[in-house]
Amino acid sequence: MDLELTGKRVLVTGASKGLGLGIVRAFLGEGAEVVAVARRGTAELDATGATFVAADLARADGPRRMVDAVLAGDGRLDVLVNNAGGGELPDDAFGDTFDGDDDVWSEVVAFNLLSVVRVTRAALPALTASRGAVVNIGSNSARVPGAAPLPYAAAKAALAMVSRGLAERLAASGVRVNTVSPAGVRSYTHEGPDGYTARLAAHLGMDHATLLEALPRQGGMLTGRLAEPDEIARAVLLLASPTLPSAIGQNWSIDAGAVKTT
Ligand SMILES: NC(=O)c1ccc[n+]([C@@H]2O[C@H](COP(=O)([O-])OP(=O)(O)OC[C@H]3O[C@@H](n4cnc5c(N)ncnc54)[C@H](OP(=O)(O)O)[C@@H]3O)[C@@H](O)[C@H]2O)c1
Repeated sequence: MDLELTGKRVLVTGASKGLGLGIVRAFLGEGAEVVAVARRGTAELDATGATFVAADLARADGPRRMVDAVLAGDGRLDVLVNNAGGGELPDDAFGDTFDGDDDVWSEVVAFNLLSVVRVTRAALPALTASRGAVVNIGSNSARVPGAAPLPYAAAKAALAMVSRGLAERLAASGVRVNTVSPAGVRSYTHEGPDGYTARLAAHLGMDHATLLEALPRQGGMLTGRLAEPDEIARAVLLLASPTLPSAIGQNWSIDAGAVKTT
């Protein structure tokens, strides 16, 4: 199937590992030109041949500076994938997030919601010129009552609404906005020795490997295993493809049935 992504210029945030790296590889496999953003490069990202741009998107001025740098040499942009999210949650995020000050909320919302708004705003003139596509990476946490950490789930729920609202606002200019919402995906978040799951295990007094094994079933994933980054990347490719012009304002769950509603 030709997704008509050959030669398209694609910007992927949070691209050095996990889902982002899978998304970079998928676009390159379709013949696209990829600019990959993270704070630090990795050997795995280097090996893809994507162009790397370093940026801290959690800083208020990070998104604008990053987009300026990406467009400085070549002003074209056909696809924006806002994948950066999650983040290094402060220790307080593992307890009761109401029991404390605003710091955890501010930090988590700034990275998971505001940074996406800022990147998209900065990239919009270029995306409008190309009648391009935006794909945001959400989370099943946005749809599961009781999902934790609550500030993360709330920020991803707000991101889903921002995506839907922007889809309405931008459709007339030819820019399509959609979301892909995974449940657990194999990534540093879960497997890294200081990733989210390892830190949660420590907070619960559990062994990391035991929690990792139990997590997919506990989260309602009917496969009983974490999804692969490639699976999420395939959904992103489809939503970014100009061969699906009617895919507008959608929020595709690729979550192994974790969200228990119709
Ligand atoms: N993994 C899952 O189970 C899962 C499930 C649902 C949704 N998601 C969503 O999927 C997306 C990717 O998650 P992941 O698990 O693949 O994450 P990950 O493995 O932790 O990778 C995160 C990526 O974002 C970059 N990043 C982190 N902080 C950044 C910052 N301040 N500025 C710029 N880049 C930054 C990281 O590189 P540097 O550290 O070098 O900056 C890395 O490239 C997130 O939006 C997450 O919420 C993940």
